[in-house]
Amino acid sequence: MKDRFSEQEAVMPPAAQESPCTKVITVTSGKGGVGKTNVVANLGVGLARAGKRVLVLDADLGLGNIDVLLGLVPRYTLEHVLSGSHHLSDIIIEGPAGIHVLPAGSGLPRLTSLTDLQQLILQSELENVADRAEVLLIDTGAGVSPNVTYFASAAQEIIVIISPEPTSLTDAYALIKVLCRDHRERRFHVLVNMVKSQREATQTFRKLDVAAERFLNVSLEYLGFIPLDDYLPMAVVEQKAVTERFPCSPAARAFVQLAKTIAEWPEPQLPKSTVQFLWQQLIPMP
Ligand SMILES: Nc1ncnc2c1ncn2[C@@H]1O[C@H](COP(=O)(O)OP(=O)(O)O)[C@@H](O)[C@H]1O
Ligand SMILES: [Mg+2]
Repeated sequence: MKDRFSEQEAVMPPAAQESPCTKVITVTSGKGGVGKTNVVANLGVGLARAGKRVLVLDADLGLGNIDVLLGLVPRYTLEHVLSGSHHLSDIIIEGPAGIHVLPAGSGLPRLTSLTDLQQLILQSELENVADRAEVLLIDTGAGVSPNVTYFASAAQEIIVIISPEPTSLTDAYALIKVLCRDHRERRFHVLVNMVKSQREATQTFRKLDVAAERFLNVSLEYLGFIPLDDYLPMAVVEQKAVTERFPCSPAARAFVQLAKTIAEWPEPQLPKSTVQFLWQQLIPMP
């Protein structure tokens, strides 16, 4: 095992004194393939360009692919950290616009539930690296597996991605229901992806919002939309973020706007050691 701050130490800048708290944002969805990883990658790039120090955690364990999406070739991944052979500081790699990425790896079967020991390893390891970032973006798998709810509960802000497909709405509703009922989450930002118009986005959002309001007594926050854009899959094929490869495309412009909105979210009102603090809140429900 390497020393905690050995060769990768130089990759991450030291924590800024003026911003001791890390904003933790988890991007999730009920259904797979709705655009989470692309949102995380492009939002990360947008926030970095807006001057934020961004760390991305690929928490789609066993099926992680943000490294592939960004054309990165990691030597070590979270699989090495969870097996205890490496530290998180060993696996950080630099991506576009200077974002830092903690890749998940995809060599193991999908890991839907971390053991207590793995949770402990991740908690203490994240504490060491995440406080150096202003924003920690977590990309999860889809659905209601323990890992998804774990990483959602660990965040200050949860962004649920939906698309106009009815199954994306029913699955998002199921996820929100579990997070409300079993994890006491009450605040959800909803981003509508792959829409043909603003009207389609607000109509899609309303369908989910009405159901959540009526049956869960929770009101959702509309975060905006990303248009269905042929340039996005073209950028994916080239293993680049669309904001980098096609900056004038409709999707790229929407991501830049989204990053501006999120960069203006209020600073977290938490003491230092934000990540540890958040994870300590994860008290199992009876
Ligand atoms: N706004 C969009 N316009 C066009 N295609 C999109 C858009 N967002 C996502 N896609 C397509 O959906 C695929 C899956 O996206 P991805 O971010 O990997 O989803 P997830 O992480 O939710 O599984 C992308 O490779 C791309 O082809
Ligand atoms: Mg993904």
